[in-house]
Amino acid sequence: HGTALVNDKGHLEIGGCDTVELVEKYGTPLYVYDVELIRNRARAFKKMFEKHGVKSQVAYASKAFSSIAMLQLAHEEGLSLDVVSSGELYTAVAAKFPVEKIHFHGNNKSEEELEMALDYKIGCIVVDNFHELHMLHHLCQERKQNMNILLRVTPGIEAHTHDYILTGQEDSKFGFDLENGQAETALAVSMDCEYLNLLGIHCHIGSQIFETAGFLLAARKVLEKLSYWNGEYGFVPQVLNLGGGFGIRYTEEDIPLSPEQYVEEMIFEVRKETDRLSLPMPEIWIEPGRSLVGDAGTTLYSIGSKKTVPNVRKYVAIDGGMSDNIRPALYDAKYEAVLANRPLDQQDEVVSIAGKCCESGDMLIWDLSLPEPGTNDILAVFCTGAYGYSMANNYNRIPRPPVVFVENGNSRVVIKRETYEDLVRLDIPFSEKSTI
Ligand code: LLP
Repeated sequence: HGTALVNDKGHLEIGGCDTVELVEKYGTPLYVYDVELIRNRARAFKKMFEKHGVKSQVAYASKAFSSIAMLQLAHEEGLSLDVVSSGELYTAVAAKFPVEKIHFHGNNKSEEELEMALDYKIGCIVVDNFHELHMLHHLCQERKQNMNILLRVTPGIEAHTHDYILTGQEDSKFGFDLENGQAETALAVSMDCEYLNLLGIHCHIGSQIFETAGFLLAARKVLEKLSYWNGEYGFVPQVLNLGGGFGIRYTEEDIPLSPEQYVEEMIFEVRKETDRLSLPMPEIWIEPGRSLVGDAGTTLYSIGSKKTVPNVRKYVAIDGGMSDNIRPALYDAKYEAVLANRPLDQQDEVVSIAGKCCESGDMLIWDLSLPEPGTNDILAVFCTGAYGYSMANNYNRIPRPPVVFVENGNSRVVIKRETYEDLVRLDIPFSEKSTI
């Protein structure tokens, strides 16, 4: 997985760091991110646009994993940034991310969030619906401030992925419908707003997608409309944002394309269609989240209790679970894992990995082949870099694990382990007078 390998001590090594030593130093559970892998992914996406001379922005979808260090790394690699809330925006500003490269998403941005975006003068707001469009128009008018916008449209495409992470189909809470006139009305309204500078159109068809067909179909549908709007309203799109959603390999069942392949096919399709429709070639923006950080992340756990249900199953529990990785419980997501301290030992046991939360559904991996695990073993679960920490929670008041970045044999903490004091930090004892 990723750049993980087995070192001469027979231990799993990530980014030149021995995972057993990482555990001695930082404890478990521990998220470990391979920085070089993130850099390589970022470069792979960008390289293709450069190769074909296409103006682009590769915006990291920070919902996948946001922290100050992560956003600094994204900036170092020349990425733009997609944020979906004032909290993600705040983190970006705290990381000193260049504001002009921040794009603000979300289907229910509050007035306060829009004002924050205007205060920081971010690069672009991706307007999702009429409520937002009107609110933004009024705010910009009041402040006499210009803002770049994209309109998010729903192209009516069913991508093959988990229902909960499907977003491009018609019956979706996101975006203006492309087909029933909503998007066209939004376009006309936006073009009329003195302070709104409509750069183009955004669409996102879903997540963990393995084929290019859906992206290409979305591009065709949107360009077709853009061509019609060009004739009807004289609108010339500068930007076509095709969203994120590029799949990664969690288990051997997943067969994704490379970043280069996704991007190259998109470029060819947009070129072909814009030529056919006599539209100028727009900038292409994309928003990868999972594919930038997913397989760069590995979670290390200590093995704890075991339970055998005779003739049925062996449960092996680890010191984390749905509090640090809710994806198996939420999406039935599958993961692969090894014992980090002896990854090459004969895998002659089939065990099911249980989390420690008080919930039967807190199972990380069913029926995993491993060497018989004992209490001195460390379990390394691969591919936890996207939507792991970012969806972590304090269920059962379990503190969030720390995040460590590894690169060239060096490790550094970029998010500290939560403490018990952190857990009660916002609590106000019933016995005290509230100050709120
Ligand atoms: N752009 C937009 C507008 C999005 O809604 C998303 C993801 C992305 C970009 C990034 O998608 P990615 O490249 O990461 O697939 N929590 C779920 C995934 C939710 C994705 C939400 N939107 C999971 O753990 O699988």
